[in-house]
Amino acid sequence: MGAESDLNRYRPRNDRPSPDAVVIRRTLAEIEPVSDQATAYFYALLFLHNPQLRDMFPAAMDAQRDRLFGALLVAAEHIDDTVTLTDYLCNLGRGHRKYGTRSDHYPAVGECLMLSLERYATSTWGPEAEAAWVRAYTAISQIMIDAAAEDELRAPPWWFAEIVSHERRTSEVAVVTVRTDQPYPYRAGQYASIETPWWPRVWRYYSFASSPRSDGLLSFHVKAVPAGWVSRALVHRARRGDVIKLGPPAGSMTVDHNSSRGLLCVGGSTGIAPIKALVQDVAQHGVRRQVEVFFGANRDSDLYDLDSFLELERRLPWLSVRPVVAQYATRGFPGQLPEAVREFGPWGDFDGYLSGPPQMIRKSMDALVSSGIPAERIRHDFLGTLVASGK
Ligand SMILES: Cc1cc2nc3c(=O)[nH]c(=O)nc-3n(C[C@H](O)[C@H](O)[C@H](O)COP(=O)(O)OP(=O)(O)OC[C@H]3O[C@@H](n4cnc5c(N)ncnc54)[C@H](O)[C@@H]3O)c2cc1C
Ligand code: HEM
Repeated sequence: MGAESDLNRYRPRNDRPSPDAVVIRRTLAEIEPVSDQATAYFYALLFLHNPQLRDMFPAAMDAQRDRLFGALLVAAEHIDDTVTLTDYLCNLGRGHRKYGTRSDHYPAVGECLMLSLERYATSTWGPEAEAAWVRAYTAISQIMIDAAAEDELRAPPWWFAEIVSHERRTSEVAVVTVRTDQPYPYRAGQYASIETPWWPRVWRYYSFASSPRSDGLLSFHVKAVPAGWVSRALVHRARRGDVIKLGPPAGSMTVDHNSSRGLLCVGGSTGIAPIKALVQDVAQHGVRRQVEVFFGANRDSDLYDLDSFLELERRLPWLSVRPVVAQYATRGFPGQLPEAVREFGPWGDFDGYLSGPPQMIRKSMDALVSSGIPAERIRHDFLGTLVASGK
């Protein structure tokens, strides 16, 4: 998690990193090569010092599947990126209600974070680094605690949802549709965390694949990843009638209805699901705006939702859909998404929407900026995907 993962380079030149950010990044650079050991140490300390917290976490914990410690490092690294970070942390704080997290748990996590950094960042740790980290952790925690407290007044910590349809689109992708026990308000482009009965206390994020429907049903496109706990259960095991849990809606890749510009939407793999929701949102809004969709896949067979996009394209004169296939392409644009986006630019009159794995978001961000869209007009959930991927 070095400088490469930093979107701040898009800030104006005179906007230098704060002194705390400089110190924090020094610690992070030292931690990076030993992050697996630091993560293991962090959880060992957390559970040894606070055994009452152990039951809140999944039964099996390993560094590859760690989220909390990774998120602390990512959040601290982006401490200067106030708007993005605040948005992400508010969602995270609300989402922590489903784990049973209370405000008095935060000092325990903070203490173990400091002890882990002290142990594994020996050459950069000292009073100055400690003070910078304490300030960052305090700010991060307070945003999460406040967001959770506010959310308590108006929403449950989670929803039950019954699977009403389960449709396999390819050997590894399923469309899962659920009905919630209580109304579930969300916006097109957002996502929710899901817990399945087969992996208790293991929550993973999935994007809504449609804008809010009049029948209240919610759909997700799930791709089973190799050795994936939740994705494989949802694709290969889940059936109609199974009951899962949903966390609150989160994410900021929603349509800016104050803008009259066109929308350039780039979705890789199941990242196309929230893009479909955005297209429906624009259609429902009734204002005619040009929407250009790039749907990226590794192979033709991974274009699992192309037919329904082409059907939308036939009905909606302002919509254009371009498949982009990385290997053995027989349809669409052969190559990678960022190249395709550049090829069809410039895009200065558009707002950008990006959804997919972090590498794809990072490279597409570069492509969009170099094709004329200022960074502040590009929406994505980079921090969330970065933490989830553990990279
Ligand atoms: C904001 C957001 C929205 C998301 N929306 C969707 C969505 O709509 N549909 C969807 O299918 N997924 C989506 N994801 C990814 C999803 O949350 C899970 O990360 C994914 O399903 C893997 O979870 P798992 O429990 O099956 O795998 P884990 O048990 O967490 O991981 C198993 C192994 O697979 C690796 N791995 C994790 N993800 C991938 C991947 N994508 N490809 C290859 N290897 C991987 C891990 O590093 C690990 O080694 C989204 C993620 C985020 C952050
Ligand atoms: C500033 C502090 C914290 C940050 C940045 C943070 C971040 C995260 C993130 C990103 C996840 C991954 C899943 C998700 O997105 O919800 C997570 C999971 C979790 N967090 Fe936190 N967290 C913090 C504090 C806490 C505290 C104080 C507790 C209470 C003990 C807690 C308990 C959990 C649990 C139980 C999980 C689920 C287990 C898992 O997915 O590994 N977190 N945290």
